[in-house]
Amino acid sequence: MTDWTSSFTSFWSLFIVALVLINVLGCVWLLWSNAKRRPGDPGPNETSHVWDGDLTEYNKPMPKWWINLFWITIVFAAGYLIYYPGFGAFAGVSKWTSAGQLEREQAIENKKLEATFAPFAGKAIDTLAADPKAVAIGRGIFNNTCATCHGSGGKGAIGYPNLTDSIWKWGGTPEDVLTSIQEGRQGVMAPWGTVLEGTGGPNAVAYVIAYVRTLSQPEANVQNDFMASQGKKLFEGVCVSCHGPDGKGNTQLGASNLTDNYWLYGDSNAALQETIRNGRHGVMPPHEELLGDTRTRLVGAYVWSLSHQGGTMAGEPAANAQ
Ligand code: HEC
Ligand code: HEC
Repeated sequence: MTDWTSSFTSFWSLFIVALVLINVLGCVWLLWSNAKRRPGDPGPNETSHVWDGDLTEYNKPMPKWWINLFWITIVFAAGYLIYYPGFGAFAGVSKWTSAGQLEREQAIENKKLEATFAPFAGKAIDTLAADPKAVAIGRGIFNNTCATCHGSGGKGAIGYPNLTDSIWKWGGTPEDVLTSIQEGRQGVMAPWGTVLEGTGGPNAVAYVIAYVRTLSQPEANVQNDFMASQGKKLFEGVCVSCHGPDGKGNTQLGASNLTDNYWLYGDSNAALQETIRNGRHGVMPPHEELLGDTRTRLVGAYVWSLSHQGGTMAGEPAANAQ
């Protein structure tokens, strides 16, 4: 027995076949058995059921065209069950499946999409950002794919970078931004609490925080500030390898610039304690596989448009307007 016949004769297949047959043959029997008067039935005048003077039982059979419609539906059902799937596991001579139809329709839609995207293929995101059509498509993709994390309009939230400003922890060239989107990024700031307290004592984290705060305050005098000057020594021992001697960060590692007064994770004492003691691990998922090359470029163009030309998209109010 082939796979096909064994699946056709499986229990549920035969169960459906029986149901279909009972229904269709039941209709045939009903039509046939009611079409004629059986011997022994009382005549039209003998039932004593008479209304409105001349209306008696049996005197108005259903019109012929109506009965014939029923026969036609039965013939249609037989044809349908031969051509389409429906008769248990019998696939029908057309071998039609909803999945197959979906595939064909998707292939047509993909062709259309490709044609829509063809003019944008392979272009740099800053070039595309000058094309309002590209930016509009990119905004649609952004709202569907990125806004859950970066917020609608790309203004970000705690832990999710604001994409409308000029601060790029992973670099701000068109290629850098595109790489962030296509390949994703993982910022790993290890937990430093134990290390710091081991070298600088129980207040070490507070010292480092005091120093980190001075980095974004050019007027601060570290020499005259005991905590900050203690913190500077610890910073130079532990933090400079990633954040740099001047605290300006490192776009290769995604190590935040600590001098710009932008705080991805917040600048309250509690937030900085958490960041430095327990570390942070921000994950930007890769999107090239999900969206394909051209669509990541289009969404990149939208992102670029948010932070350039004053954040105003051609012909539209700024998405990040306050
Ligand atoms: C191994 C590299 C590395 C070292 C060493 C390191 N950091 Fe970081 N730091 C990072 C990275 C990467 C991030 C970004 C984390 C993320 O994206 O989730 C970060 C983030 C931060 C932030 C958050 C900035 C913001 O915008 O919220 C602060 C504050 C910070 N580091 C301070 C320090 C201090 C203080 C030290 C030294 C005790 C230190 N870091 C040592 C790599 C490092
Ligand atoms: C699951 C949440 C999430 C989604 C979805 C997401 N992002 Fe991100 N994205 C992040 C996080 C978190 C970071 C910061 C990673 C780090 O700590 O360095 C980031 C970083 C970025 C950066 C780098 C920012 C910088 O300062 O260098 C860009 C650009 C970016 N995302 C664009 C996008 C775009 C465009 C999309 C949609 C295609 C998107 N993101 C979808 C979470 C997300």
